[in-house]
Amino acid sequence: MSGATETRFKTAARLRDISPFRVMTVLERARTLEAQGRSIVHLEVGEPDFVTAAPVLEAGRAALAQGHTGYTPAAGLPQLRERIAAYYADCHDVTVTPERIFVTPGASGALMLLAQMLLNPGDGVLMMDPGYPCNRNFVRLAGAEAQLVPVNAQSNFQLTRALLEEHSKPNTRGVWVASPGNPTGTILSAEELLSLSHWCDEHDAHLLVDEIYHGLDYVGGLPSALEVSPNALVVNSFSKYFGMTGWRLGWFVVPDQLVAASNILAQNLFIAASTVAQYAALRAFDADAVEIFEQRRAEFAQRRDFLSSVLVELGFSVPVPTQGAFYIYAGIEKFSDDSEHFCHALLEHFGVAVTPGTDFGDHDNRRHVRFAFTTGMDQLQIADDRLREAVHSGRLSR
Ligand SMILES: Cc1ncc(COP(=O)(O)O)c(C=O)c1O
Repeated sequence: MSGATETRFKTAARLRDISPFRVMTVLERARTLEAQGRSIVHLEVGEPDFVTAAPVLEAGRAALAQGHTGYTPAAGLPQLRERIAAYYADCHDVTVTPERIFVTPGASGALMLLAQMLLNPGDGVLMMDPGYPCNRNFVRLAGAEAQLVPVNAQSNFQLTRALLEEHSKPNTRGVWVASPGNPTGTILSAEELLSLSHWCDEHDAHLLVDEIYHGLDYVGGLPSALEVSPNALVVNSFSKYFGMTGWRLGWFVVPDQLVAASNILAQNLFIAASTVAQYAALRAFDADAVEIFEQRRAEFAQRRDFLSSVLVELGFSVPVPTQGAFYIYAGIEKFSDDSEHFCHALLEHFGVAVTPGTDFGDHDNRRHVRFAFTTGMDQLQIADDRLREAVHSGRLSR
């Protein structure tokens, strides 16, 4: 009998290559320590510490009061798709028809849908290593191969045409990038996006650009891939700049040829994204909400400046400054050759939670950790003291 039970609950073979999202494990351990009374500085979480802006919250409450509790169309509320189209016109001077925009449960929903739509078993997708860990798992769940391309400071931790040439294989069908990227916070210029787009055109591959950290840049504005390529597949979200992580709302943009397939998959996979979140998000583009987001961006910039100067002073290597998002991907070679042990010791002995490089890929992953400046300046001051003590303690190396 036990044999039958084992078979019944045996998970599918495709799960074999799916790695855990380690930052969640760090978070869990940090919360356990907190429950035991320890004080922890959270520099692990990729989530803004601000609550959703008041106008957006109010719009969500009003939607509930008005009884907007049923499904929306699978592709999203028409007025929200129009609002997102207006955002591309206003902020990027590019025309995107609302029909090409699909509202999803977070960027995660968009990435999962796009992987299912574009990839056959055995296809390959080139992506950065280090990069956002879930992407390679979305690709693998579609039966495709995540083709990890080691990147470093020389290419600003981004893919380049030369790297695509070097690492593409006969089965390569797509190129997935993020600008700004997670965990490195680096960006792609319009010229760089164009060069990736040309390579994809020449090699009959799709180009997917994750723009989830757009708005959170410290370089005075970023190009959308849609400005340089009408064929680019673009993913975005209300999670980060718009501060709505828990509402679970994102979107993607596809070329006309993929609209029908996107609709079918959206209907089947999600039925629709959260209705109350969509009504709330309608307010996120208004001037009073944007003013709040811009104040928050200024605060992130201040935190970035503070934390990066602390890290450099303490001996971490920060070869490229954070250009966007809220991460610093720092080299720990001066202290340890094992990022997992480093993070474990930092959390257990000094009460500072950060994410090991092993969460983001294979390349040089033991010599890097990611600091997320998603906590206030008061907490960063405490982190400064604790890091100072930690690096001088000798307890961070094995
Ligand atoms: C690069 C990147 N893409 C996508 C996501 C998923 O975000 P969400 O599903 O909250 O929109 C994240 C979350 O951290 C991310 O860092």
